[in-house]
Amino acid sequence: MDTSLVILAAGQGKRMNSDLPKVLHKIGDAPLLWHAMASGRAMEPARIVVVTGHGAEAVEASARGFDADAICVRQSEQLGTGHAVLQAKEALADFDGDVIVLYGDTPFISSETLARIAEARASSDLVVLGFEAADPGRYGRLVLKGGKLDRIVEAKDANAGELAITLCNSGVMAASRALMFELLDQLGNDNAQGEYYLTDLVELAQKAGKSSVVVTCEEAETLGINSRQELAAAEVQFQARMRAAALEDGVSLADPGSTYFSFDTVLGRDTSVGPNVVFGPGVTVETGAEIKAFCHLEGCHVSRGAVVGPFARLRPGAELSEGAKIGNFVEIKNAEIAEGAKVNHLSYVGDARIGKAANIGAGTITCNYDGVMKHRTEIGANAFIGSDTLLVAPVKVGADAMTASGTVVTEDVPDGALAIGRARQENKAGFAVRLMEMLRAKKLKKDK
Ligand code: UD1
Ligand code: CA
Repeated sequence: MDTSLVILAAGQGKRMNSDLPKVLHKIGDAPLLWHAMASGRAMEPARIVVVTGHGAEAVEASARGFDADAICVRQSEQLGTGHAVLQAKEALADFDGDVIVLYGDTPFISSETLARIAEARASSDLVVLGFEAADPGRYGRLVLKGGKLDRIVEAKDANAGELAITLCNSGVMAASRALMFELLDQLGNDNAQGEYYLTDLVELAQKAGKSSVVVTCEEAETLGINSRQELAAAEVQFQARMRAAALEDGVSLADPGSTYFSFDTVLGRDTSVGPNVVFGPGVTVETGAEIKAFCHLEGCHVSRGAVVGPFARLRPGAELSEGAKIGNFVEIKNAEIAEGAKVNHLSYVGDARIGKAANIGAGTITCNYDGVMKHRTEIGANAFIGSDTLLVAPVKVGADAMTASGTVVTEDVPDGALAIGRARQENKAGFAVRLMEMLRAKKLKKDK
């Protein structure tokens, strides 16, 4: 059965107390919306419709950033969850399959749970995802009758007996496209909040002689974000999950609690990660690489057997080939470091290519920025760059070439050549001793 997703993301999220629309707040460096879209992606949806409202332009840009084919529809007034889904009617008019409704502010619904919902749909017209709430608070309550889902009552509309129910509505709902919109067209808003409730579909289905069923999941999965407090708690939960998954996948974490992941971090088997390492977005580390303590990586690729850190920073576009070594206080940005090349101490390498087995001495800097434009530095295989070399880009150092320490390289260095560009040294015999005597005598006179 083909499935399409409708993701509700029009709400403001007042309790976030923020200029940023709620669904654009991040967990694991990705907007909440991306997490919802990612969990739905496991269904291989035919279409993804995102319902936007507050901060619509930013939310739409973000949705398309995740999936260029996402269809965005606007809900100009937030008249309730049912009204929100109704905005997707036109976008799905010619779609013949199932619709699953997800919330943009509910990031942790698992693909396993969605698969169970799809399974339940085979024998039931309407499927609602529920959970046993530790504190049911303001969640909608799932009212069962003879073991079957009878209706959903919102906390604000519930009587004391209904409020005592702990089986609650996650908000996720699935039905055929045809049934979903047929029922949505019948929705009213005669309730405590004057809203068009998606939850009323259960009762409408009942009246239409259609069956409804509840699929349940852990409460942690249905966690919705409404405040900064909940966002922070969700981040903790996300990090815990990523750490556990990495360990499960055969990654060594010296101090799991101090390793921070992004939503898309990929660490190969037998990778070893030291304490206090942060993986920003877009990091892939291959099998057997070692990331030592206190490193910060983002937008980079570390190949097999490469060693990074301690105290290294890999920025977007850093591409480390097999066996490359990046040492302490080294920053790499938009640069390829070929097999076996070493940048071991105190260097900045940006907009560059470092050839195979080249050795970059301590304190080397690629001067890539002239204040307006960025320029490239190319260093050939087996080159030896002396300590404290400044490479004023654009510039090329050939294969097997050397630069003397302290050299400011402003012109290309041919293969095999040695570049020296520094002031010539002069030794003045006895001068140091005479100078010190003179200075001490001066001080003595002053102190008297
Ligand atoms: C909703 C459910 C409730 C459930 C709870 C789970 C209804 C009527 N109630 O309540 O049963 O227990 O979620 O968290 O469905 N949204 C729109 N447009 C709107 C209204 C909402 O896009 O007009 C979006 C919000 O941005 C949010 C989601 O829908 O992502 C849920 O809306 P919210 O107002 O938080 O619903 P709850 O009152 O929490
Ligand atoms: Ca909510």
